[in-house]
Amino acid sequence: MDVTSASVAAYLVAALLFVLALAGLSRHESAKLGNYFGILGMATALVVATVVAFDTDVDGLGAVLLVVAVVVGAGIGLQLARTVEMTGMPELIALLHSFVGLAAVLVGWNGYLHIEAHPDSVDTQVLEGAGLLGIHSAEVFIGIFIGGVTFTGSIVANLKLSAKMKSAPLMLPGKNLINLGTLALFAALTVWFVIDPQLWLLIVVTALALVLGWHLVASIGGGDMPVVVSMLNSYSGWAAAASGFLLDNNLLIIVGALVGSSGAYLSFIMCQAMNRSFISVIAGGFGIEAPAGEAADYGEHREITAEETAELLASASSVIITPGYGMAVAQAQYPVADLTARLRARGVNVRFGIHPVAGRLPGHMNVLLAEAKVPYDIVLEMDEINDDFGDTDVVLVIGANDTVNPAALDEPNSPIAGMPVLEVWHARDVVVFKRSMAAGYAGVQNPLFFRDNSSMLFGDAKDRVDDIVRALG
Ligand code: TAP
Repeated sequence: MDVTSASVAAYLVAALLFVLALAGLSRHESAKLGNYFGILGMATALVVATVVAFDTDVDGLGAVLLVVAVVVGAGIGLQLARTVEMTGMPELIALLHSFVGLAAVLVGWNGYLHIEAHPDSVDTQVLEGAGLLGIHSAEVFIGIFIGGVTFTGSIVANLKLSAKMKSAPLMLPGKNLINLGTLALFAALTVWFVIDPQLWLLIVVTALALVLGWHLVASIGGGDMPVVVSMLNSYSGWAAAASGFLLDNNLLIIVGALVGSSGAYLSFIMCQAMNRSFISVIAGGFGIEAPAGEAADYGEHREITAEETAELLASASSVIITPGYGMAVAQAQYPVADLTARLRARGVNVRFGIHPVAGRLPGHMNVLLAEAKVPYDIVLEMDEINDDFGDTDVVLVIGANDTVNPAALDEPNSPIAGMPVLEVWHARDVVVFKRSMAAGYAGVQNPLFFRDNSSMLFGDAKDRVDDIVRALG
């Protein structure tokens, strides 16, 4: 068997391993195995690509450069994976998506420089003879467009998630028209490029895609960022698939389609969970208007000490804990697990309520609680527990904010209006753990903090939970 047919077979095996990886990752019992399948698939793909490169590269220089790039990239990736905090994962993922986008742009440009830029070359003549030159041009153009949008969109997502850019949506006048106009222009330019592949058209579409990617994600508010990250994941998949067509690489096409469709489906599920319109979010907040009005005055908040909270808990018979991003920042899951065990030993019914976008990535809270060995059966999804708050004595809101904000239900002009939230305020007493009165990720004030049955327990969540455990004895 020659190297080319062997590589086709090996790529198919790698593609199968990626499918198994996805299947494994869908359940936490099999997630580890899924990860191993993914690693094996990627290792196979890299080895095959390297062998093919040495086989086809006459002087071997390109193949050597490929190996150097893989080694350097793997080293950086390994170091990043070792050092990244769980709370920093989404911004890292966004950055990695931007690399896929950039790669797709470069592959597109490379395709043009090899084929369309040399109309007399043998390769171009062969494509033309087979009537495939137009298809190649369309692949180049569309690949560069999707890649460009993914590249800048992911950079903006990274900047927003790492708080280097304001999370509030950019509201340019006529933003929907800008997005729609850009898409229409792209469609027209694609037709033009297929008929007459000129360099200037490629320059224009690259610039257009970069600006559109930036604008699309900048227009989306902080509260919708989880959907944006998974949507960019999807775009990066389509960008990779487009590169696969250009490079005539089946594995890239299959993997790109897997990532593209699973990312799109995840975005869709998230939109449903957050009561958002899928189309509106993927179209850069299409139809969402700027929130009107001044910040409302909700009155005064009350404070409570750790000792008073311990007394409240000691006399409670039912407690619900709703964790959020702040629990992850403080790494408070271990004392929270300890507090839970102690209260349960006293006969208190303790449960956890998990909002679908609590924290900074899907499943963030579940992973932290599992790490601290909190039993799975007392960790409930929002829909499973939302009706139980009315019968609950004490709710501990540990480092959560947007996910327990009643403004989502009560204030139609709020940027998070319509998003389902944990309705903690129906409980007898609510204790909110945070360090200040600052807003949450979506940047909106939380009227929960000013309700009569709410009290603020200020300080680092881990220190305060430790204090409560000590006070309980
Ligand atoms: P947030 O609304 O971001 O609120 C977290 C709260 O934790 C803040 O108000 C902060 O207040 C407090 N905090 C931070 N560090 C703390 C510490 N060391 N000790 C005690 N408190 C601390 O979090 P949430 O309720 O989990 O909501 C998640 C938000 O992130 C949503 O808007 C969601 O859309 C967005 N988001 C989610 C995802 C996914 S997929 N889950 C991805 C990206 C964005 P202080 O600063 O006053 O302490």
